[in-house]
Amino acid sequence: MLKVLCDMDPGHDDALALLVALKVVEVVGVTTVAGNQTLRKTTVNARRVLRAAEREDIRVAPGRGQPLFYPLVTAGEIHGESGLDGYSFPVLPELIPMIGANELLECTFSKALEPIDWIATGPLSNVAAFLLGHPHLFESIGTLSIMGGSLGRGNITDSAEFNIFVDPDAADIVMHSGLNIRMAGLDVTHKALLTPDAHARFRELADPIGEMLFALFSFYGSREVNAGRQGAPIHDVLAVAALVEPDLFNWQKTPLIVHRQGECRGATRRGQDGPYISVAVDIDVQSFFEWFWQALDQYR
Ligand code: BDR
Ligand code: CA
Repeated sequence: MLKVLCDMDPGHDDALALLVALKVVEVVGVTTVAGNQTLRKTTVNARRVLRAAEREDIRVAPGRGQPLFYPLVTAGEIHGESGLDGYSFPVLPELIPMIGANELLECTFSKALEPIDWIATGPLSNVAAFLLGHPHLFESIGTLSIMGGSLGRGNITDSAEFNIFVDPDAADIVMHSGLNIRMAGLDVTHKALLTPDAHARFRELADPIGEMLFALFSFYGSREVNAGRQGAPIHDVLAVAALVEPDLFNWQKTPLIVHRQGECRGATRRGQDGPYISVAVDIDVQSFFEWFWQALDQYR
């Protein structure tokens, strides 16, 4: 199994991505970032999910509470006040003092005998900050699989996807890092929609995972932005799939520009001067969902 670090801002789809990742890769640590909600909330949410999965052995390290330069924008209208609205989580036990994201990343990458892959499903603030300070550790970083961006329409503005919009400067730094990057953006995540019948299938999983996913995705699917569709996008899960099952996607290696300001802030567009990034432009939806359920069915 691939060894993987997860950087995330849970968030409903981050939570689902983490549960899937636990079954298809070896998650060696989770770092949290502000995005869907504040850092305090996304960190608690990561711990809640790991607790439900009985994987509290995995360390959760909080990272940046703010984008590099812009003020934080959250997505409470989609993920609720807690970031994981819809389910009543049990109270978490008192927290043992935690190490920070930078420290966990440094410790993990510097001790790695082989490159460790990285999945990032929130704004790229932690990833960029770490890369800026640790160029000597690049050789220990394998593939970086991100959920973010779009070559076409956006979701938070007409042109920008949420994760890139929140911290476009971080995204720009990451894209220019020279790392091997796979980008699964809205071009593919808006094709793999979780239909309401999937909610019932969640219920077949053992509790608390079954009940938790049923409640969380009943909430997430009912949000205004998702309600008009045939199903809800589970964006972040595709970053996990892009890492472990790249053949599910069609990839285009394309020079990519991140717009950092102005009306197009956060837009990711093809542009001659940009660094070459592998962008997922299409997905085999049926095979993706077969893979997805095969992973989740391990919680039965
Ligand atoms: C991305 O934004 C967040 O709300 C989701 O968790 C996902 O990472 C989709 O644009
Ligand atoms: Ca996310």
